This record gives sequence, C-alpha cells and structure tokens, in this order.
Amino acid sequence: MDRSNVFDAVSSSDVRNGEGARAFQASGAARLKASPSFVGRTLTLATMRTMLRPVVPADVPALHALWADPDVRRFLWDDECIGEERAAEVVAASGADFAAHAFGFWTVYETASGQFMGFCGLRPSEAGEPELLFGFWPRYWGQGLATEASRAVLSYAFDVLACSHVVAATDAPNAASARTLERLGMQIERRGTLNGRDTLFYRLPRERFQQLGRPLA
Ligand SMILES: CC(C)(COP(=O)(O)OP(=O)(O)OC[C@H]1O[C@@H](n2cnc3c(N)ncnc32)[C@H](O)[C@@H]1OP(=O)(O)O)[C@@H](O)C(=O)NCCC(=O)NCCS
Repeated sequence: MDRSNVFDAVSSSDVRNGEGARAFQASGAARLKASPSFVGRTLTLATMRTMLRPVVPADVPALHALWADPDVRRFLWDDECIGEERAAEVVAASGADFAAHAFGFWTVYETASGQFMGFCGLRPSEAGEPELLFGFWPRYWGQGLATEASRAVLSYAFDVLACSHVVAATDAPNAASARTLERLGMQIERRGTLNGRDTLFYRLPRERFQQLGRPLA
C-alpha cells in the first residue's frame, strides 16, 4: 500500500474554507485518489483547541499506551489489554480505510501545547457504514474535547465526503461515551447485544447534523 496517497487527500485549510468540499462534490469521494488537486497535501483537521492528524505507524507506541490504560480500555477494548501488534494492526487498518473510503482514525493533539491527547475517527462498521470512535487520556476528560474533536470529524464526513449518515455504538454503562454521542446530535436507533455486552446503537443523519449547526468548539 502506498501510504503517501492515503494521507495526501485534503488539507485542513481546504476543509475549513470549503474548497475540499467543492472538489469532493465535483469529483465524488470515489474519485478522490485520482484527483490531482489533492496530491501533496495532508489530511489534517483543526478546531479551536485541537489538531487532528491521520494516524501513522510512528503513532503506534503512543496509541498502544493510550489503549492499554485501564480507564480507556474498559469499554473501548472490552477491558482487554491489547499488545502493541494489535495497535499496529488498527493503525494499518486505518491507513487502508483512508485509501478505500477517505476516512480513518486521527491522533488528537492539544493545539496550545502540542500534547498528544487521544484519538478520534471513523471506521467502516460491520454493515459498512462510517462508525465514530474516540478515546482520550483521562486527564483530558470533562473539558468538551471529545465533543470538539468529534465535531471536526463529523464535519469532514458530512461536508467533505458527503456521507449520508454516521453511526456509533457504545456499551450501555459507558455514560461518558453515550453523553458525548448525544451531545453530537446522535440518537439511539436500537439497544442490543454486541460481543455479549449490552450495547446502544446510535445514528446521525447528515441533515440532522447540518440542522443542529456547528459551534466552533
Ligand atoms: C468517552 C470520552 C471520549 C469522553 O471524553 P470527554 O472529553 O470527557 O467528553 P466531553 O468533555 O466532550 O463530554 C461530553 C459529554 O459527556 C459528559 N460526560 C463526560 N464524562 C462523563 C461521565 N463519566 N459520566 C457521565 N457523563 C459524562 C460530559 O459532561 C458532556 O456532557 P454535557 O455537555 O451534557 O455536560 C472519554 O470518557 C474516554 O476517552 N473514555 C474512554 C474511551 C471510551 O470509552 N471511548 C468510547 C468507546 S465507544
């Protein structure tokens, strides 16, 4: 896989000023890689307090440390303490997803300090729908950062890629995740069992996201 193509899709300034959106609408996401206007650019996203950059293999140690944290892995990994090889597989899958779908996972940094705070992004669900996931180091919880970074990802999904909807799933007891999804405008579609666990399935149609408006933070 040529990773230079994967992460050279559209720049953050394109996302912010709408040029990327126009180019996608003109050419269609399926033709993204063929569009010469995207060559040599980096798919980063920015919000008031966060910078998001597509995950790369060099991020594996930092992501592995995050995903191994007991408070982070509890629901994200069904409390399994994954090995670094598994983290590397997820990063590789994200790269493949960027190549195939123009979305994947981003590492999230605090703009002011440059500190690595967590990750956020999309992967194809089992049904092939873009599915939102996120996780931050506990010291950054409760400051609206997951909501803020997720809004940037959703804005990219809806405004740039023109996705019709985004889904999410969370363990029912994961109140922080459920509240974050609801704050993003997601609505519960159904409650069911996933991997033997009581799970809430959420959905956010593009029209609803656009109707809700988007605060900067
Ligand atoms: C889920 C997670 C990303 C939320 O991050 P965060 O930055 O604290 O979220 P925000 O600050 O944007 O808060 C979003 C909402 O959740 C609420 N919230 C945060 N933690 C909460 C908790 N422990 N219990 C209940 N609500 C909580 C916030 O109050 C806020 O709602 P409000 O605006 O009504 O007050 C974070 O808890 C985390 O990384 N958890 C571990 C990984 C994980 O479980 N990921 C989800 C897997 S599906």
